[in-house]
Amino acid sequence: MTDHTATLSFIATPSNSVSGDITIPGDKSISHRSIMFGAMADGVTHVTGFLPGEDCLATMKAFKAMGVNIEGPDENNNVTIHGVGVDGLTVPTEQINIGNSGTSIRLMSGILAGQSFASTMAGDSSLNKRPMMRVVNPLKQMGANISAASDGTPPIVVDGGAKLTAIDYQLPMASAQVKSCVLLAGLFAEGTTTVTEPGITRDHTERMLQAFGYEVITEGNKISLTGGGRLTACDINVPGDISSSTFFIIAGLIAKQGSLTLRNVGMNPTRIGVLNIVKQMGANIEITNERQAGAEPVADLIVHASELHGIDIEESDVPLAIDEFPAIFIAAACAKGITRLRNAEELRVKESDRIQAMADGLEILGVNCTVVADGIDIVGGTIGAGTVNSHDDHRIAMSFAISSLRSSGTITILDCENVATSFPSFVRLANEVGLKIDTQK
Ligand code: S3P
Repeated sequence: MTDHTATLSFIATPSNSVSGDITIPGDKSISHRSIMFGAMADGVTHVTGFLPGEDCLATMKAFKAMGVNIEGPDENNNVTIHGVGVDGLTVPTEQINIGNSGTSIRLMSGILAGQSFASTMAGDSSLNKRPMMRVVNPLKQMGANISAASDGTPPIVVDGGAKLTAIDYQLPMASAQVKSCVLLAGLFAEGTTTVTEPGITRDHTERMLQAFGYEVITEGNKISLTGGGRLTACDINVPGDISSSTFFIIAGLIAKQGSLTLRNVGMNPTRIGVLNIVKQMGANIEITNERQAGAEPVADLIVHASELHGIDIEESDVPLAIDEFPAIFIAAACAKGITRLRNAEELRVKESDRIQAMADGLEILGVNCTVVADGIDIVGGTIGAGTVNSHDDHRIAMSFAISSLRSSGTITILDCENVATSFPSFVRLANEVGLKIDTQK
């Protein structure tokens, strides 16, 4: 049992209006990959716009422990990585504790499976409950000496020294982490590794490997690379995280009045499911100044307070908005009519069971919803007041915080420490644009 009195709570009091002009911090997925690929490259990689969240700092610490000299992040979020080459990592100086970060443990499993040395990775109590056989199984098929605990959770233990062979892998679920894990192991495997996805997932690994000069071939939903190549250092400009932006997009939409400008938001087509969904719900969002930031497209968004209505969310948008559903559920709770989500069982194995965690909180706030195995129906209406549990999940915490824009009274959100894993400046930025969130230890 968590001792709630010892942890961080958000006290969100109602507010009406959201307005201002803000720049969202760097993308978490891209920041992780910049460290991993920069570490394995030949030469020095400069990263700008790095996200200084706990998850990405855990990745950085792990690569430092494997002999990589990394400077930063400095006060401007610049990072310099002195790459050791694809064959240059050294045995970790300590067991790798990767905190709350599913992306780190799953992508690094692919990298560590190809090393000559043994390693062990585990995380915090939330990560240590999450499924890891989804990466252990394909890596074993490639010949890795790798295992998870008997219930398929961390620690992940790699014996090292295995000779990997390429595989042709059909992903059982739409997961960018599993896809990336197998492709990264493919760097160390003999032959051409191919991953086939059941639905399009974020393609940052493919884009960034190419930026590092590594050939990756994408044909429809099949992605291939051939092992034995090298990565060449490059400069990475990390765009603002559309997943973090989502809390402000939804805040801007559900606010009773106001317009909010969000600068430098990542607009990768494999990440914009949230925009597709809220536009169908009636959102008024202007997309301006579309441009390219290195390998990734970005734009500025102007979000206007909007009257939303419920929709049936399209299945193809589910993997493209996978991290955005807690906030989208808040939009649904403020919309006219019913919003239905299906084919989203992956939400149950995120930092929390996000379908149940959101349903529990919404119910406490008086919102009518029906949970099914792979989704939820949410009946839009009024949001009440009360105390909800974030289940140590950063995105649940931030979602309930923004719901105070439409609540009848104060919402207290318990166990909000993990907001620092992805968005350390959330409360400051939220208060800057008109929300009223106090923190209490
Ligand atoms: C991520 C992939 C997604 C996402 C996670 C980050 C990535 O996970 O939920 O926050 O960086 O590859 P899954 O691959 O489990 O869907």
